[in-house]
Amino acid sequence: MTANIWAAIETAPARKLEALFADDAQRVDQLTVLQSGLRFDFSKTHLDAELLASFAGLAAAMDIDGARERLFSGAVVNPTEGRAATHVAERGNGSVDDVAQAKALHNRMRGLIEVIEAGAFGEIRHILHIGIGGSALGPKLLIDALGRDGLRFDTKVVSNIDATALAEAIRDMDPKATLVAVASKTFTTTETLMNAESALEWLRDGGVEDPYGQVIALTAAPEKAMEWGVDQSRILPFAESVGGRYSLWCSIGFPVAAALGWGAFEELLEGAAEMDRHFRSAPLGANAPVLAAFADLYYAQVRKCQTRAVFAYDERLRLLPDYLQQLEMESNGKSVTADGRPLHRPSAPVTWGGVGTDAQHAVFQLLHQGTHLIPVEFIASKLPGHDFDPAHHETLLINCFAQGAALMRGRESADGARNYPGDRPSTTILIDDVTPSSVGALIAFYEHRTFANAVLLGINPFDQFGVELGKEIARGIAENGPAGFDPSTSALIAAAGLDFRHFHLISSSFPRKRESSSGVARFNGR
Ligand code: F6P
Repeated sequence: MTANIWAAIETAPARKLEALFADDAQRVDQLTVLQSGLRFDFSKTHLDAELLASFAGLAAAMDIDGARERLFSGAVVNPTEGRAATHVAERGNGSVDDVAQAKALHNRMRGLIEVIEAGAFGEIRHILHIGIGGSALGPKLLIDALGRDGLRFDTKVVSNIDATALAEAIRDMDPKATLVAVASKTFTTTETLMNAESALEWLRDGGVEDPYGQVIALTAAPEKAMEWGVDQSRILPFAESVGGRYSLWCSIGFPVAAALGWGAFEELLEGAAEMDRHFRSAPLGANAPVLAAFADLYYAQVRKCQTRAVFAYDERLRLLPDYLQQLEMESNGKSVTADGRPLHRPSAPVTWGGVGTDAQHAVFQLLHQGTHLIPVEFIASKLPGHDFDPAHHETLLINCFAQGAALMRGRESADGARNYPGDRPSTTILIDDVTPSSVGALIAFYEHRTFANAVLLGINPFDQFGVELGKEIARGIAENGPAGFDPSTSALIAAAGLDFRHFHLISSSFPRKRESSSGVARFNGR
C-alpha cells in the first residue's frame, strides 16, 4: 500500500535549497514551528509542498494518528515484548491508571528525597548515581545542563565498568556523607551491579557501619534489588512499561530531582508534557516531531544519508548527542518491521555530533566539502549560561547560524580544493533559554520524533534485542573460558593475560545474593 507513496517520494524532483527559498517567500514561516519556547526551523531541509504531501500520505497509510493514540492510551506499542510504552504517563499524559501509578511513584520519590533532606540517612552531601545506558545518560545530561548554578547535593553519575570512572567520581566524596543510588531497570546489568558492589566496598572501607543503609535502588525490578540487599523501604520502583532510554522521567531521574530540587523536576515534566500535547494534537504539517521525522526519512531513504549530525551550540547541552545516540540508534536501529518481516530499506541513520564551536575546528571540513551528504542539526539558546561579556554568546550564535547558511549556500570555485558544493541541509532548534522546562520539551521532541520515524517505517522502537548477543558471549567467556571461540578472539583473550578467577563476577551467578540490611533509615513511602 505504501509502495506508490514511497515511489512518489523517491522520484520527487530534487530541487536545490536556494531555489526552494527563491520560489516561496513564506518558506521560513511555513517550515518553522514555535512550541514551548523552542523554535524549530526546518526551512533549510529539502522538504517542499510536494514532499510534504507525499509524507502526509505515508503518515496516513501508516496510521500515525492511531499509533499516537495507542501510545498515549497505554496500548501495547512494543509487540515483541508485549508492552505499552508509558513514559508519557510519567508526564501526566496517558491512561488514567498509568498516570495515577506514575503520580504515586513520583510521590514516593519526593517523600524519599524529603527524608534524605531531613537527615534520616545522616548528613548526606554527595549522591553517587550508578547506572548505564538509559539509567545514566538522562541524569548525566540533565545535571550537566541544568546544575551549573549549583546543586543541592554534589552528584556524580558513574556508568562504565572501567572502574577508573568510579575512582574519579568518588575522589572528592566523603563515604559517610554519600548516598549511593543504584539505577537499573532490570537490576541485572553487569556494569551497574559490579560498580555498585565496589561502591559498597568503598563505603565499608570508609568506615560506614551499615553500607546498605546508604544505598537506594531505582528499578522496575524491586524484588531483584531486595535480593541484592537493598531494603524495600529504600527502593524507588517504576513501571516495567517505561523503557530504559525513556526513563529519566521516572525514578531514574532521582538524582535530578534531588540535586536540582523537586520544583525543577516538575518543570522538566511539564515541559515534556507540553510537547506531548503538541505531538498528540498539532496537524502533521505544523507538528515539530512529525516534520523532523519527514526530513529524517527523506535523507535516509531518498538521499541515502547514513548519518545525521547534531551539534549543540551551547556548552550546557554538550551531552545531548550522547543521549540522542542511545535514544535514536537503540530505538530505530532495526532490520525488521514490527511484525517481524525484513525491513528492506535503511532504518535509523547513525546519530553523531558534538559541541559548537569546537566541532567547526574538527569535523566541519567534511560536512562542507566531504563526499558524504550529512544532514546537520544545530541547537542553540537565545540566552547564555554565563555572565561574561555578551560578545561570547553573540559570537557563538553567529557561528551557529553562519554554518547553516554556509552549508546551504556553498561557494563555487574553479579550484576544486576551494569549492564548496552547498545545498547541504540543516535544521536549527533555537531555544529561548536552557531551563528545566525547555530541556524537558526538547527531549520529549526527540522521543516523539524517534517514535514518528518508527511508525512511518513500520518498526518497533521500543525493543533492543541487538544488545543481547554480546552480553551472552561475554557471559560465555566468563563461564567457559577462552575455549570454543574463533582464533582471533581466543588469541586476544590469551594475549591480554586475563585471570579467569575473576570472571565469576560476570557469570550468570553474579550478582551474589545478600542478606537485606535492616538499614538506618526506614522510609515507608506515602
Ligand atoms: O544493554 C542495553 C540496555 O538494556 C539499555 O536498553 C538500558 O538502558 C541499559 O542496558 C541499562 O539497563 P538497566 O537499566 O536494566 O540496567
